[in-house]
Amino acid sequence: MSKKLLLKDAHVEGIRYFETYRKQGGYGAAEKALKMTPDEILEEVKTSGLRGRGGAGFPTGMKWSFLAKPEGVPRHLVVNADESEPGTFKDRYLMEFLPHLLIEGMLISSYCLGSNVSYIYIRGEYSWIPDILEEAIEEAKAAGFLGKNILGTGFDCEIYVQRGGGAYICGEETALLESLEGKRGNPRLKPPFPAVKGLWERPTVVNNVESIAAIVPIIDITGAEYAKIGVGRSTGTKLISACGNINKPGVYEIDMTITVEEFIYSDEYCGGIPNGKKLKACIPGGSSVPIVPANLLLKTVNGEPRYMNYESLADGGFATGTMMGSGGFIVLDEDQCVVEHTMTLARFYNHESCGQCTPCREGTGWMYKILKKIEKGEGKMEDIDLLWDIQRKIEGNTICPLGDAAAWPVAAAIRHFRDEFEWHIKNPELSQTQNYGLANY
Ligand code: NAI
Ligand code: SF4
Repeated sequence: MSKKLLLKDAHVEGIRYFETYRKQGGYGAAEKALKMTPDEILEEVKTSGLRGRGGAGFPTGMKWSFLAKPEGVPRHLVVNADESEPGTFKDRYLMEFLPHLLIEGMLISSYCLGSNVSYIYIRGEYSWIPDILEEAIEEAKAAGFLGKNILGTGFDCEIYVQRGGGAYICGEETALLESLEGKRGNPRLKPPFPAVKGLWERPTVVNNVESIAAIVPIIDITGAEYAKIGVGRSTGTKLISACGNINKPGVYEIDMTITVEEFIYSDEYCGGIPNGKKLKACIPGGSSVPIVPANLLLKTVNGEPRYMNYESLADGGFATGTMMGSGGFIVLDEDQCVVEHTMTLARFYNHESCGQCTPCREGTGWMYKILKKIEKGEGKMEDIDLLWDIQRKIEGNTICPLGDAAAWPVAAAIRHFRDEFEWHIKNPELSQTQNYGLANY
């Protein structure tokens, strides 16, 4: 059984409220941290090996150490709670059921980074969660864990919750900062990174909800103990939101030593595939990461089991591997049609493109139109090569990663499931009434 650090108290009745959270030992890590120096906390975070849980997996301690500290300029911590990646809902779970874990993590992180005013930017569709967070903030304040002179240390910290307007692009950190400043959420060119020029041009650390929540157990058990959990550079525990064709969709905390097979089939996690269907493919890290067919998902190209961690999932590069991404684990059984699935994603990215870069603005629309044509049985064989060509022209040629995120699913679908695209083109009549999966299994 995986060790639980974040969700260990998730099922304690009333854990959402300060009194219960405190009874379970909550804010103990904050008390400990406030007796340490900011540099000592930073060292613990670096030693823990924690990697950003939003999707990129960038080392959190390194990001914090990049924070510029010009004399007299305020610094900020901004928590990215704009969780919009299709298939990803782990931050929602944390905020809804364990809001004080996030607030405690923010207090420790704000103290370490020197942020007296910190923000949570939350996606608009999570309409019921800001009230939960604001109540937790008020409770923490009343107990002396936020506000002025926290626990007599002289450190002041306020946390504000800002609701987003429902645009996927505002989860990209610089678009998020633009939106937080009250502007249209268009991504900025990087560098400069937010750590140097962020919110209102001030040094800013933008971290995902889960990354900040993980700071609490890191301080609690020490960075060295945290680093012993997991394997290699995949230290600590990771939340996975599992969905699609599985018996037990939900949010699971894993220690990154389990295999993909165990995660899908064990009763502790997904509980297998309904109706005894066969596994066709999986997208293990949210919709932006490459889809992987079952044979490459359960084993690497070298025949080794594939593990649920950053390195093993990426093994073999994009030709045979994928990415841990945001931990949005989407399972497709044999009845699903990869062309239809890829078309749905293309429509999503086209709709969510901010329109600043031509390859993304135009390319996502073209990909969607071509995929729609193929899926309806109106495509030609040349369309597959055209699709390949368009995705190649988007990848790496845009301001923000949305372009890559739109290109990769198309590339991986053609690479691994070309036969499905060809089936739609060769069977125009059938493909108007059936999907590939149902017609072929
Ligand atoms: P990135 O790799 O560009 O950056 C990662 C982080 O490291 C950023 O905070 C960046 O500011 C920082 N960083 C990198 N180099 C730095 C340097 N030299 N100095 C200072 N800071 C530096 O990736 P990005 O754009 O933050 O995230 C992309 C990922 O987000 C995708 O891979 C995808 O998996 C994920 N994603 C997650 C979503 C969700 O709902 N959780 C939604 C969409 C995408
Ligand atoms: Fe906007 Fe797409 Fe360019 Fe990102 S890649 S800045 S979403 S047009």
